[in-house]
Amino acid sequence: MKISCGIDFGTSNSAIAAVCPGQEPRLVKSPEGKVTMPTAVFYPAAKELTPCFGMSAVQAYVNAERGRFMRSMKRVLGTPLMGSLTEVNGRNLQFEEILAAFIGYLTSLAEREFGAEIAQVVMGRPVHFRDGDPAGDRQAEKELRQVAEAVGFKEIEFQFEPIAAAYAHEIKLRQEKLACVIDIGGGTSDFTVIRLSPGRQQESDRRNDILGSSGIRIGGNDFDKDLALQSFMPELGYGSFYASRSSSSQQLTVPAGIYHDLAEWSKINSLYTYKTLKLVRGLKLQAEEPDKIARLEEVLEQECGHSLLGAVEAGKIAAGQQEEVCKRLEFIGDKPAIRILRREFEKAIEKNVGKISAAMGESLKQAGIKAGDIELVILTGGSTEIPAVQKSLCAFFPGAGVSQDDKLSSVGLGLAYDSMRRFG
Ligand SMILES: Nc1ncnc2c1ncn2[C@@H]1O[C@H](COP(=O)(O)OP(=O)(O)OP(=O)(O)O)[C@@H](O)[C@H]1O
Ligand SMILES: [Mg+2]
Repeated sequence: MKISCGIDFGTSNSAIAAVCPGQEPRLVKSPEGKVTMPTAVFYPAAKELTPCFGMSAVQAYVNAERGRFMRSMKRVLGTPLMGSLTEVNGRNLQFEEILAAFIGYLTSLAEREFGAEIAQVVMGRPVHFRDGDPAGDRQAEKELRQVAEAVGFKEIEFQFEPIAAAYAHEIKLRQEKLACVIDIGGGTSDFTVIRLSPGRQQESDRRNDILGSSGIRIGGNDFDKDLALQSFMPELGYGSFYASRSSSSQQLTVPAGIYHDLAEWSKINSLYTYKTLKLVRGLKLQAEEPDKIARLEEVLEQECGHSLLGAVEAGKIAAGQQEEVCKRLEFIGDKPAIRILRREFEKAIEKNVGKISAAMGESLKQAGIKAGDIELVILTGGSTEIPAVQKSLCAFFPGAGVSQDDKLSSVGLGLAYDSMRRFG
């Protein structure tokens, strides 16, 4: 039996859907019974143990098991890090191997559920992996293809993630609509203007229906960073001062780079080095507020940067809904409490939200239509849950209907529909 699949390898969450000939595609459930899973890997410190993935990886990290935890691995595609080795528990691993292990795991879930090997895949991809860098973008796709080959796929096609989301929504339509898909995920924001119609679902060539596609490498991870730097990192000494060794009268700001890396999911692990720890210990001795630097030191020593950014992400989600949020950092000795005001959070992300709106305008421009021509707005991706983001984007289309079902799984399902169309 020839089964094909679609894989939504997302920055934060991933999904796989597969299809048997003559049947409808369906999403594959994780061991926890969910149709998506966190894009996460945990390599246990004991070499004889195999890595774990998704929710089990998150659990292993939360339970403070010894080992290396990784998230947002997609962000490495198309960057110099991809070709380099990363040290994981004393072993040197290529990022390609790590990505292949994760995508291989997803594939094995589908193969088990469908009871057959799967050789054909449509991989989702953002409209731009990298902004304003066509060569880097091609490189990123090439790397993802190599990962899929390493997993064992024989036929590999790519589809833009927002187009896949549109296909998943098209099934529910009763009449033709001019739609704009807004997909704001963890790593990227992607848009497509597309003509959807129940009658055209089976057509193999949809190029004439896709009027415009654009995207930008900004997503929920960047909102996490904005909020981290505004509300959390100052409590760990970000922006504070220390006295220069050469002249005791000279005040210097604590280097910002460490805090910027600590606020990025894909860079946290790079800070767990003796060199960084030594630098921070040196700063603490000269700092105006050594207690704050001591918190940073503790986060690095205990390797709990992912817990810190997890608290930021939870604060972000709560701040979308409430006027005021308080987050206590239980994993730091003195358990500092962070207060987030909704309007401050919205201010912190304002610049990135503006860039996202501008990128959306680009797909309308490509399509040669006015915002008023759009009849249906399809919201997908977890970051469209932020009310301020939703409001600012939907304001472009006052007359359009809004569809926002299956925000986390529509891309995966749509990719499987696309695989059915392409591989027959
Ligand atoms: N209720 C919420 N409020 C705000 N943000 C949310 C909410 N729920 C999820 N998110 C954010 O959505 C992002 C994950 O969304 P999603 O799973 O669509 O991304 P992804 O598909 O993994 O990423 P990408 O498509 O960019 O590769 C995370 O940044 C997460 O913090
Ligand atoms: Mg996505």
